[in-house]
Amino acid sequence: MLSKEQILELLQPLQEPQLGVSLTELQWVRDVMVKENHVALTMVTLENRTEDTTALSDAARNLLSQHGVNDVHIRLRAASENERESLNIGQADYEENQDEVLVKGHAAGLDGHELLSPESGVRFIAVASGKGGVGKSTVTVNLAAALARQGKRVGLIDADIYGFSVPDMMGIEEYPVVEDGIIQPVERFGVKVMSMGFFIRENNPVIWRGPMLGRMLRQFFTDVNWGELDYMLLDLPPGTGDVALDVHQMLPHSKEIIVTTPHATAAFVAARAGAMAIQTEHELLGVVENMAYYECSKCGEKDYVFGRGGGGTLAESLHTELLAQIPLGAPDNHISEPDFSPSVYKADSSIGAIYDEVAQSVDAKF
Ligand SMILES: Nc1ncnc2c1ncn2[C@@H]1O[C@H](COP(=O)(O)OP(=O)(O)O)[C@@H](O)[C@H]1O
Ligand SMILES: [Mg+2]
Repeated sequence: MLSKEQILELLQPLQEPQLGVSLTELQWVRDVMVKENHVALTMVTLENRTEDTTALSDAARNLLSQHGVNDVHIRLRAASENERESLNIGQADYEENQDEVLVKGHAAGLDGHELLSPESGVRFIAVASGKGGVGKSTVTVNLAAALARQGKRVGLIDADIYGFSVPDMMGIEEYPVVEDGIIQPVERFGVKVMSMGFFIRENNPVIWRGPMLGRMLRQFFTDVNWGELDYMLLDLPPGTGDVALDVHQMLPHSKEIIVTTPHATAAFVAARAGAMAIQTEHELLGVVENMAYYECSKCGEKDYVFGRGGGGTLAESLHTELLAQIPLGAPDNHISEPDFSPSVYKADSSIGAIYDEVAQSVDAKF
């Protein structure tokens, strides 16, 4: 099975017909979903002219079939106004504007240190995992959406600087705007969102390190107009590297959720993330075991495809609670719906209901 990243790499040669620029570099190959041997994706073009889009989807199918992927669903749409406008705005522009935004933000009396201070009353929840691909971002966005459904005022910072995915997962197509020199977060499903993904318009690999990275992330707290919040969720970088450690230290008051799959080795690796939380004195709220089982839609039987017990064992070893076991299943929604999102489960779905329960038990722990 190819990963999303591999698929994007394969599709790199595709060009926007009028611009002659790689579609993947424009980040106009969107919503890539891989499920077993089925791949679904969206391609955005300037005008969505039939002659262009037919050629493009043929070319995409061709590239994918050379790598054994034949079951491909391609959606095509024209670029939104925001996407057109963003064409000319690269990372350099953002960096140039950054100082200005910073200065204006402070002039407007927006002191983000308030958000980070214990007096702010905002409840921070950092979501961590031992490695990537276990569903950390999926859990973060769904817990955020579930808390918002319960009437909480929720912010979400996609702190996975290198692997940001929150905007795509939530189906966010717009970019934050700057009003009076202050960045306004984008709101989706009642959640205010800030992500590095908003500022990297080309598919450039992010090479910022150390101070730049810290500064960027700090700005997400200090120079964004979050308004009043009850909860701030953070999608942490996977693992226990420098960036993860930095974020932990930036947020001394944060509590933490560890995400793992049921597999014994995954849980073992996740234990390290748990140990990091404990070392940095972050209280653990619990463990979420994701991809816990596959439930047969016809017979209701549970198949523990990725093994069994990892989440429970991990929770025990970290002296915390197993908050939920979330089964395998993609959200049941469609691109044509106004609230389409590849990764947010609806409130009336069975997985959505599990997230509602997680939100309630988390809320009770503060
Ligand atoms: N319970 C689940 N059932 C099916 N697919 C899932 C589930 N949880 C996550 N996924 C998918 O697995 C992939 C990895 O999830 P993601 O949340 O991006 O992980 P991480 O943030 O840990 O790297 C994504 O494609 C996501 O849509
Ligand atoms: Mg992620």
